[in-house]
Amino acid sequence: MKIALDGPSGAGKSTVAKALAKKLGIIYVDTGALYRTIGLYVRDHGFEKSDIKNIIACLDKINLGMDFIDGKQIITLNGKEIGDEIRTGEIAMYASAVSAVPEVRAFLLETQRKIARENSVVMDGRDIGTVILPDAEVKIFMVASSEARAKRRFAELQAKGESCTYEGVLKDIMERDKNDSTRKAAPCVPAEDAIHLDNSDLDIDQTVERVIEIIENVKK
Ligand code: DC
Repeated sequence: MKIALDGPSGAGKSTVAKALAKKLGIIYVDTGALYRTIGLYVRDHGFEKSDIKNIIACLDKINLGMDFIDGKQIITLNGKEIGDEIRTGEIAMYASAVSAVPEVRAFLLETQRKIARENSVVMDGRDIGTVILPDAEVKIFMVASSEARAKRRFAELQAKGESCTYEGVLKDIMERDKNDSTRKAAPCVPAEDAIHLDNSDLDIDQTVERVIEIIENVKK
């Protein structure tokens, strides 16, 4: 079983995908973490987000591993395990920038496909239904208004103690939406056969319920 869960930043994909994976006993694959890890490498090596030449040159020096231990995704970068250092607003912007580079997308393609060949997965990202797993049995494109997403992300960042303002988070979300949906390489757009789910007015449990309904309908 392959479930593709795509949509813009902050639509709650990862929370929903995690709950779903647990319920269905399948693996949750967070593909954004791969782009974030490359973004981290680029930032740590002092390159600008716009320095495409050096971003591409970095790929030769990156050995990226993705394993699953007890269902938990473990990413390694040149042998070192990556943790929450990729979960900052700054790295999100680097991830968005590197993800627009076709060479970066090509570099990560096989890592994502391999895991879905070998396991039942719910994979969250931007191009899972369109590019990575075009044959996924279930494709969901999950959206929420920018304001609803900024409100959730602001609460998350505050809980982690990151200093930020609601206006700043909203601005970043709108900027990332624009980058991710207008880039030439695999933009964040729904697959033709994706089912749209707007969860602006739903909480996580309600969203998971809807997703399960969608899966059951597809299976019928
Ligand atoms: O889902 P996320 O916020 O962790 O993703 C970080 C960035 O990576 C996001 O701005 C877009 C990009 N991304 C992508 O282009 N394709 C994916 N499959 C996943 C993420």
